[in-house]
Amino acid sequence: MRRFYISTTLLFWLLVTAFWAGSLWLPPAEQSQAVAAEKTYSKADLAKHATPDNCWMAIRGSVYDFSAYLPEHPSRPDLIEPWCGKEATEAYNTKTKGRPHTPYADELLAKFKIGKLAADKPK
Ligand code: HEM
Repeated sequence: MRRFYISTTLLFWLLVTAFWAGSLWLPPAEQSQAVAAEKTYSKADLAKHATPDNCWMAIRGSVYDFSAYLPEHPSRPDLIEPWCGKEATEAYNTKTKGRPHTPYADELLAKFKIGKLAADKPK
C-alpha cells in the first residue's frame, strides 16, 4: 500500500512538472497572434479601397475595412462615403460637425480593424 502511495504521488508530480516544462516551450498564445495579425498598409494601399462597397479608412493610426458597416451608418451616406480610401481621423473625431462620436462608436471601430497605417516616409 505504501509503495502504491509513493509511486502515484511521484507520478503525479512528474506529470505536473512535465506540463509546466511543456508550457515553457510555447510563446504565450495571445502575444504570438497579435504579432502575426497586425498588418501594415500604406496610404497608397488605402487609396485602392475608395468606393462605398470597398471602403477602407485610416483612423488614429489604424486601418479599417468599413465596407460592411457603411449601409448601417446612421448619417446621410454622402457624409461618410467621401472618406473611403482616406486618412479620416479628423472627420471621425468631429463628424465634420464639430462634435465627437459616442464611446459606443469608438467600441464599434475595433470590429472593423484590419491593420495599421504605415508611418509617412521622411522627405
Ligand atoms: C469618418 C467619417 C465619419 C463621419 C463624417 C461620420 C459622421 C457621423 C454623423 C454626421 C452622424 C450622425 C449623428 C450626428 O450628427 O451626431 C454619425 C453617427 C454615428 N456614427 Fe459616424 N461618421 C464617420 C465614421 C464613423 C465610423 C467609422 C463609425 C463606426 C464604425 C461611426 C459610427 C457612428 C455611430 C455609432 C453613430 C451614432 C451616434 C454616435 O454614436 O455618435 N461613424 N456619424
